[in-house]
Amino acid sequence: MLQAVKMRGIFASCALAAVLLAVTWADHHDHHDHHDHHSHSSEGEMSCHKLSAPNADFAFALYKSLNAKAAAGKNIFYSPLGISTALSMLSTGAHGETHSQLFSTLGYSALNQTQVNEAYQHLFHMLDNSHEDEQLDVGNAVAVRSGFTPLEKFVKDVEDFYAGDIFKVNVTRLEEAAAEINRFIANETQDKIKNVVQQLNPDMAMLLINYVYFRGQWAKRFNEEFTDEADFHVDQTTKVQVDMMSRTSHYKIYRDDRNQATVITVPYKGNASMMIVMPDEGKMTTVERNISKDSIKHWQDSLSMAYVDLYLPKFYISVDTSLDDTLKAMGITDAYEDRADFSGVSETAMLKVTKASHKAALSVTEVGTEATGTTFTYLILSIPPQTVRIDRPFLFFILENSTGNIFFMGKINNPTAT
Ligand SMILES: *[C@@H]1O[C@H](CO)[C@@H](O)[C@H](O)[C@H]1NC(C)=O
Ligand SMILES: *[C@@H]1O[C@H](CO)[C@@H](O)[C@H](O)[C@H]1NC(C)=O
Ligand SMILES: *[C@@H]1O[C@H](CO)[C@@H](O)[C@H](O)[C@H]1NC(C)=O
Ligand SMILES: *[C@@H]1O[C@H](CO)[C@@H](O)[C@H](O)[C@H]1NC(C)=O
Ligand SMILES: *[C@@H]1O[C@H](CO)[C@@H](O)[C@H](O)[C@H]1NC(C)=O
Ligand SMILES: *[C@@H]1O[C@H](CO)[C@@H](O)[C@H](O)[C@H]1NC(C)=O
Repeated sequence: MLQAVKMRGIFASCALAAVLLAVTWADHHDHHDHHDHHSHSSEGEMSCHKLSAPNADFAFALYKSLNAKAAAGKNIFYSPLGISTALSMLSTGAHGETHSQLFSTLGYSALNQTQVNEAYQHLFHMLDNSHEDEQLDVGNAVAVRSGFTPLEKFVKDVEDFYAGDIFKVNVTRLEEAAAEINRFIANETQDKIKNVVQQLNPDMAMLLINYVYFRGQWAKRFNEEFTDEADFHVDQTTKVQVDMMSRTSHYKIYRDDRNQATVITVPYKGNASMMIVMPDEGKMTTVERNISKDSIKHWQDSLSMAYVDLYLPKFYISVDTSLDDTLKAMGITDAYEDRADFSGVSETAMLKVTKASHKAALSVTEVGTEATGTTFTYLILSIPPQTVRIDRPFLFFILENSTGNIFFMGKINNPTAT
């Protein structure tokens, strides 16, 4: 209901996501002790790395939950980093059990809010600082109903640690307010993310918005001339026609016999890469069942450079995910109930989360940064390339090396389904 993100096919491979958490008034409110979790401590430069392990565990827990609910054959796609960011921003305003549930679900139980805030601040700083190779724009916004005044500390935390912008929404002018927020986000993202907020609810107290835009371009582009129609085997009896890109080059690959999968990474310019994991025929469920951050690590450590004829389908995926059931199943329940304690947002208003949804989109095409036709040096090699043909359902991860984050992850069962 609340979100829509449009895709612009300008870049080779772009992805964007929005997480919206709508908070409304709760009917009752039990008072919990208020702990002031906020005091400035200076964390080391490596603070953002504190998040990478818990965020990865959260990413896979989300995967398992979303996959369990997804209809057979459905594609899955989301930004674990976007969802973690939005929930962390929400937790700055939560206390008591509401806060504990958010933190334990995010895997932050060993950390306090100050450490998490500073880690995100540092992460945004790092992601911001990559200049021309910059690949990811992460932004946050909080829209609050006019007449409802969030605590100054909450506003400051959102602005300081989550690079968040605060909007006042006049509920008698919801359309104008939505348009204003959308204009702002479009401007912030050079028009890459538009119409995030489609409709504002008159009951809203607060809306948390997280947006992520990935502008990654392949380090080495695919040549359009080599893209051909080919079969993709959705399952044993179904095949679809895809535009199959191909490129012969050196790639890091790994044949995982124990997990019955082939792993290949296709680097983007900068520090991100797409890791593609293609289970052997009929083995998707086996691989999915065992997948965790340790599998990623195992694969990363086992990859080695090889001379490869890579066939990869072009695809575009855009998925709307309602997170409410998933988050509740993962232990974030109080936030949705009248007993929710968001006394860090407002001491007077009784607030609870009414809706959390996420939308992400990704386009995988040939385009990269190198000029066509400059990459034929491989012809001097005398060994024949081995073929890696991604023509059955596969998992993929867009991984960032310097911060250890999973920007996006998903499963493509059918590249022609959106
Ligand atoms: C958070 O943890 C850090 C490191 O252990 C500590 O220095 C700081 O005082 C803690 N802050 C709060 C508010 O508990
Ligand atoms: C909201 O909009 C109405 C109608 O335009 C206006 O009368 C009212 O003053 C506005 N409220 C606030 C708090 O700006
Ligand atoms: C649009 O973005 C630019 C730079 O990103 C900024 O300088 C400008 O103030 C923004 N304009 C609005 C209306 O937000
Ligand atoms: C890649 O990582 C290195 C070190 O981790 C960092 O200095 C550099 O800015 C990063 N580049 C990009 C494009 O993020
Ligand atoms: C599951 O993955 C782990 C970590 O990669 C590995 O050690 C283990 O052997 C795998 N189990 C199966 C049944 O493949
Ligand atoms: C990325 O990480 C792997 C291992 O995790 C490491 O071998 C590689 O050098 C890293 N690449 C960059 C660009 O930092």
